[in-house]
Amino acid sequence: MKTRLTEALGITFPVIQAPMAFAAGSALASAVSGAGGLDMIGGAYGDAGWIERQFGAAAGARVGCGLITWKLAEQPHLLDRVLTHDPAAVLLASGNPKPFASAIRDAGVPLICQVQTLRDARQALDCGAEIIVAQGADAGGHGEARGTFALIPEIADEIARQDSKALLCAAGGIADGRGLAAALMLGADGAVIGTRFWASREALVHPRILDRALEATGEETIRTRVADVVRGFDWPGRYNGRVLRNPFIQKWHGSEDALKLEAGAEAAKWAAAQEAGDPYFATAFAGEGIGLISSAAPAGDILANLMLDAQRCLAEAD
Ligand SMILES: Cc1cc2nc3c(=O)[nH]c(=O)nc-3n(C[C@H](O)[C@H](O)[C@H](O)COP(=O)(O)O)c2cc1C
Repeated sequence: MKTRLTEALGITFPVIQAPMAFAAGSALASAVSGAGGLDMIGGAYGDAGWIERQFGAAAGARVGCGLITWKLAEQPHLLDRVLTHDPAAVLLASGNPKPFASAIRDAGVPLICQVQTLRDARQALDCGAEIIVAQGADAGGHGEARGTFALIPEIADEIARQDSKALLCAAGGIADGRGLAAALMLGADGAVIGTRFWASREALVHPRILDRALEATGEETIRTRVADVVRGFDWPGRYNGRVLRNPFIQKWHGSEDALKLEAGAEAAKWAAAQEAGDPYFATAFAGEGIGLISSAAPAGDILANLMLDAQRCLAEAD
């Protein structure tokens, strides 16, 4: 399936696998890139050693890297290390991309900015981003409040109004071919997909957590700050993260100030639960699309089936 995105990135399918913190490592990278999509290593909070190891282990596959912008601002030198790997693209999300944009573009690396509002999209266009990712609130992981369905065409219209050559990807709730087809119809050139690949054989997810997630419906997810408070991650106030509900999240959601007071003891319990894959206390970042997923297939099969499905939907709509 050819779109402006496949042509710009030299990939077969218009799908970018989201750079998922702690879940998107080299195995997922090799699988998605090998199957015709673009993989983004989840550079996230900037553990330089981990990022180096993933690039090393994915050697031979053409992969990009995603970084959380407000966190990158605390250690800007990390960007130079990422750029030495000649990534297929760098995706910046959550924060002002301006301080980093020229270094990325000067290295000849496509700059992808993931945005949650029209205002952010305008800022990304001003920075010369080649690709804007319009991320709606259905998405797993961190984001904001806008729904995917109106955000995509609103940003598509803005790109057209500015007569910009920037490409547009949709993110948030795209977990099968219907979602991808809809995103293309709404004016996107492709999709950034997280949750569907999180529930794959290659993602770095504890099997017990994955098993529980595969039973969940979309309603069993919630946007919350609980996981950030317990981990001590100081996310800017406008963002929260979509996770699977469980007794731990239910207990503290809405009582985050009280959680801060008990953070020490709760953090130790929470970390042990993450390690053990205890689905009642550990946090699984997943989007509403989890309700469309009932098995964890190999990532290459997921991508192939999703594309077949999307092509069928588009052909039927013709
Ligand atoms: C487990 C998980 C971790 C994520 N971590 C990050 C991250 O570190 N950086 C980032 O830019 N986006 C992150 N995201 C958000 C994705 O980039 C993307 O916007 C989202 O997954 C798209 O929605 P979907 O999950 O419905 O496919 C994460 C998403 C998930 C599910």
